[in-house]
Amino acid sequence: MKISPVLNTFTRVVIATTLSLSLAACTKKSNNASQDATQNAAGDTILVGEVGSMTGSEGTFGTSTHNGIDLAFKQINAKGGVKGKKLALISMDDQGKPEEAATAVTKLITQNKVAAILGEVASSRSLAMAPIAQQYKIPMVTPSSTNPKVTEQGDYIFRVCFIDPFQGTVMAKFAAQNLKLKRVAILRDVKNDYSVGLADFFTATFTQLGGTVVEDQAYSSGDTDFKTQLTNIKGKNPEALMVPGYYTEVGLIARQAREAGIKVPLLGGDGWDSPKLTEIGGVAMNGSFFSNHYSQEDKAPNVQTFVEDYKKIHGVAPDGLAAMGYDAAMVLVDAMNRSPDLASGNIRAALAATKDYPGVTGRITINEKRDAVKSAVVLNIDNGQFKYQTTINP
Ligand code: PHE
Repeated sequence: MKISPVLNTFTRVVIATTLSLSLAACTKKSNNASQDATQNAAGDTILVGEVGSMTGSEGTFGTSTHNGIDLAFKQINAKGGVKGKKLALISMDDQGKPEEAATAVTKLITQNKVAAILGEVASSRSLAMAPIAQQYKIPMVTPSSTNPKVTEQGDYIFRVCFIDPFQGTVMAKFAAQNLKLKRVAILRDVKNDYSVGLADFFTATFTQLGGTVVEDQAYSSGDTDFKTQLTNIKGKNPEALMVPGYYTEVGLIARQAREAGIKVPLLGGDGWDSPKLTEIGGVAMNGSFFSNHYSQEDKAPNVQTFVEDYKKIHGVAPDGLAAMGYDAAMVLVDAMNRSPDLASGNIRAALAATKDYPGVTGRITINEKRDAVKSAVVLNIDNGQFKYQTTINP
């Protein structure tokens, strides 16, 4: 029987949790203050917590991110670890639910006594976690949550990706200047902070550039029937349809859009990045464009080494989520190495001072808002493949 990656993940969770609980038993009880260096590095292990959607309709987000983090930790441990200690990852599956993400981060901090948190991917779930990490003063690094509000939750919250005001501008410029479009319709997920933000930021720039949003329709995560919205959209005759959502719904929307007779390209953001997008959407996705953090076609030597290392383990090239997970883990390790010790406050300060870190998703400098300022790529879906189009700088 083939063991699925998800099962592997669960196995690792259990083993790691047992290990960490026994280590945590030796340390004194934590309070709300920043943990001291001894607590964060009990014995010869540094515990790091990860929260992600390993299952559910965004299952590839958590699984790919986990694979990226796992690869980074294995490589660091093979080179001797951090400050003479080995890194141990405790992964928790939140099934794509914000409440579960909040419970998981609380457990990782109060019971497992992790030194830092990696996650979440989705902004709505990072927003549920961030106030808790901030309250306990445990550094949290989200690999790929792009909504501006995430890092505004406090000075312990960081991200290694760009933010949606930039991503929205990228797609608005691409629509107006590269595709020379004047009339775009939007179909946004009103239950998803990321989708709402990206739709608004896209609208702001597209209108500034002389374009018109001819229709702005809503759906909710988990919906499967989009016919009413698509009929309204078709009536407005747009030249493209912007769908800033996650891959499961976007794939279904693409199919139903084609059935409704909408032939124009779909536009989207990083939430499209999943091998499942074209599995679900099929040929309906062809000819569409989305912005993303990285392209596996990037010829930079560090990117190609990462792609090869990942392929050796997983048999497929890493998607953007895996690349972001890898970079988030490496940026955290880099900060731990530069920090005088493993006290939370010192790891935090070192993260804040991150400058020109050469990631596989680009150079990472953390600004005063604890966000990374980086370029984005635009990908085209051609015959089910994600093809690199262009890079857009901040
Ligand atoms: N940026 C998305 C969010 O903030 C998450 C995401 C990142 C999804 C990268 C796919 C790829 O919710």
